[in-house]
This record gives sequence, structure tokens and C-alpha cells, in this order.
Amino acid sequence: MTNNRVALVTGSRRGIGRAIALTLARDGYDIVVNDYEIDDNAQQTAAAIEAQGRQALVLQADMGSPTSIKALFQQIEQRFGRLDVLVNNAATWSWHDFLDIPEEDWDTMLNVDLKGPFLCSQAAARLMIANQDNNPRIKGAIINISSVHRSRCWPQDTVYGICKAGIMRLTESMAYELGPQGIRVNAIAPGYIDSRVPHPNEPPIGQPTYAEPVVPVTPLRRIGVPEDIAEAAAFLVSERASFITGQCLTVDGGFLLGGTPAT
Ligand SMILES: NC(=O)c1ccc[n+]([C@@H]2O[C@H](COP(=O)([O-])OP(=O)(O)OC[C@H]3O[C@@H](n4cnc5c(N)ncnc54)[C@H](O)[C@@H]3O)[C@@H](O)[C@H]2O)c1
Repeated sequence: MTNNRVALVTGSRRGIGRAIALTLARDGYDIVVNDYEIDDNAQQTAAAIEAQGRQALVLQADMGSPTSIKALFQQIEQRFGRLDVLVNNAATWSWHDFLDIPEEDWDTMLNVDLKGPFLCSQAAARLMIANQDNNPRIKGAIINISSVHRSRCWPQDTVYGICKAGIMRLTESMAYELGPQGIRVNAIAPGYIDSRVPHPNEPPIGQPTYAEPVVPVTPLRRIGVPEDIAEAAAFLVSERASFITGQCLTVDGGFLLGGTPAT
């Protein structure tokens, strides 16, 4: 049990989720690091959170499994007795021409990318509402990670795009229904974000191999880094955003303003 604020970031062993976890730790949250694969990256993320003086709880759970999600929330309740922030970040994807989309890929992506955030949000909202906070207007905040694919088509992105568009509608319904309970719900739509794990034999973070066609059509003339998304999430869950709900913040360097998708 803790009196400190607690945040769960799904899929946070690496990439954007990791950056959000570290930024929320910087802002004073204890963090539940979740992933379906717990490896050295997950342990390093936890160590980096603890190095900031915050608690890190590493919990394996598969966002595609309702049983696994239920167990995840039971463990959070047992350990912390509260949850203040949920970031639905974990996602999976595969790319196929429309006529070649395997049915199992449809099921997997809809389960992990859309049903998982729905189930996590339900469980998180119940924990938040049960929280005996003095201020009934501030029970918690939920962030759903969408994508620029929510509103623009790329080749082979049918199922991923559907999930990321669905996440937006989920955000709006949740904001509408949970607002009166003191829970704000917003989405972030990242553009091109270099979420690789740094490696000495690869280009530095921010300069991925796909950058060449993307940077010239991005008004801010660079590829995003995970910290760009993390700072947006930190703002949206903070009291500075206390009158913002049901919105999607696009964080893409201006790409959607008119960039031609790279082929
Ligand atoms: N990187 C980009 O350019 C970009 C752009 C738009 C949106 N996004 C979104 O940002 C989020 C994070 O993406 P990223 O680029 O950091 O990817 P990533 O692959 O680096 O991280 C995703 C994490 O989710 C975990 N994960 C995958 N399936 C899971 C499951 N079933 N259960 C639990 N964890 C699971 C992975 O193990 C991984 O740690 C995703 O929602 C993605 O759709 C990314």
C-alpha cells in the first residue's frame, strides 16, 4: 500500500512506453512496468525508475489475454491499493495488403490494440473511483496511445489503422462517461517516432534508416523521439491539463499537415 500516486504504463519495457514510465517517475509517480516479455530492457527500465527515487513494480501481462489483464490489476491492487494513471501504450502490428490479411492477424491486433486498452481502462477506472481521494473531482487520468494512422491510410495498414481509429472513439466514450466520476481520458497520436533500443552498430536514436523521405515532408524537419510523446503524456495527466478530456494530441512534428506518406 502507498499514499504516493501510482501509474501503470502497458508495454513499457522499451520504446515509447519506457520513456513515458521514466518521465512519470520524474514527475513523482511510482510505476508499474508492464510487458508481455520481461527481459533485460524491462529490468533496466525498473532500475532507471528506482534511480529517480520511485518504486518500480515489474509485472508480466499479455494485453491480448483478459485473464492476464485481470491478474495484472489484482497484483496492482495488492501491492499499491490504488492507481492514479493508466497509459494504454502496448500494441502489436503486422502489415498486409488488404486481400492478404490473415484472419488471425485481425483477431490478434483487435485483441491487443483495442480490447486490451478497453479492459485495462475498465479495471483502472474501477480502482480510481474506489480511491478515497479528498477531491472527488480528481480521481485519475487515462492516456490511450493512438497514431497518425487513425486518420490517414498507409499501404498495408488496414487493421492497425482500424485499431488506432477505434482507440480514439474509445477515448471519447470513456471521457464522456467517466468525466462525472473525476477521470479524464485523452489520446496521443504519435507520428514517426524512433523507438528503437539504442545499439552501437545502428544509427543514433532520432536518425533511423527511414528518415530520409520523412524529414523533408515534416515541418519541424526531424523524426520524433520517445521523449516527445512522454512529455505530452506527462502534461495530459498533470493538473495543468485539468480541464482537458476526450481529446487527441497529435505529436508528429506537423507531418499530418501535408506530408506525403513515405512509400
Ligand atoms: N514508434 C512510432 O513511430 C509510433 C507511431 C505511432 C504510434 N505508435 C504507438 O506507440 C506505442 C508504442 O510503440 P513503440 O514504437 O514504442 O513500440 P515498441 O515495439 O518499441 O514497444 C511496444 C511495447 O509493447 C509491448 N507489447 C507488445 N504486445 C504486447 C502485449 N500483447 N502485451 C503487453 N505488451 C505488449 C512490446 O513488448 C514492447 O515493449 C504503440 O501503441 C504504437 O502503436 C508508435
